[in-house]
Amino acid sequence: MPDEVALLRAAYPRGVWEGHRHLGPMARFWLERHQMFRDLGGAITGAADQLRDGQIEAHAFMGWFAPRINFFLNELHTHHGVEDEHYFPLFRAADHRLGRGFDILDADHHVIDGLIHELAADANALAAALKGTGEIARAAETLAARLHKTLGGLIRHLDDEEEIIIPLILDRTEGVLGV
Ligand SMILES: [Fe+2]
Ligand SMILES: [Fe+2]
Repeated sequence: MPDEVALLRAAYPRGVWEGHRHLGPMARFWLERHQMFRDLGGAITGAADQLRDGQIEAHAFMGWFAPRINFFLNELHTHHGVEDEHYFPLFRAADHRLGRGFDILDADHHVIDGLIHELAADANALAAALKGTGEIARAAETLAARLHKTLGGLIRHLDDEEEIIIPLILDRTEGVLGV
C-alpha cells in the first residue's frame, strides 16, 4: 500500500506498536486474531501440501483437516463481517483521508469471501473423492493450490489492514475512536 493510502504508517511503524501506551485491549485482541489466521492458515496449507505430495494418508488427513478448515473459514467470514459492520465505519468517520484505504480493504473482503466459498467447495470435492466419487490426487492438488492463493492474499490483506488501523488507534486512542 502506498503512503498516501496508509497515511499514518510512517509516523507509527510496526516496530513501535508493541509496548505503545495507546495499544489498548481491542487492538491487542484484534492483532491476536490476525495472528491466529496466519498461523492456522499456514498449518492447514502445509498439511494440504503433505497430502498432495503423498506424505500423509488421505483419510487421516481429512480427520485432522475438516474441523480446522471449517473453523478457519467460519471465523474468517465472521471476522470480516464485524470489521465491515462495526469497525470500518467508526475508523472511516475518524479521518476522511483514510477512505481510499478502507475502500481497498472492503474490496479485499469481497475477494476473500469468494475464495472462502471456493475453498469450501474444494474441501467438499476432496471429501467426495474419499467416498469414491472422484480422483483424490486431483482434488488434493486443487485444494492445495487454492489454499496457497488464499493464504498469500489473506496475509497481504492482514498486513495492509494492520498498517492502516493500528497507527490510527495509536494516534487517537481506542477511547476517542469509540472501539
Ligand atoms: Fe479484514
Ligand atoms: Fe481483519
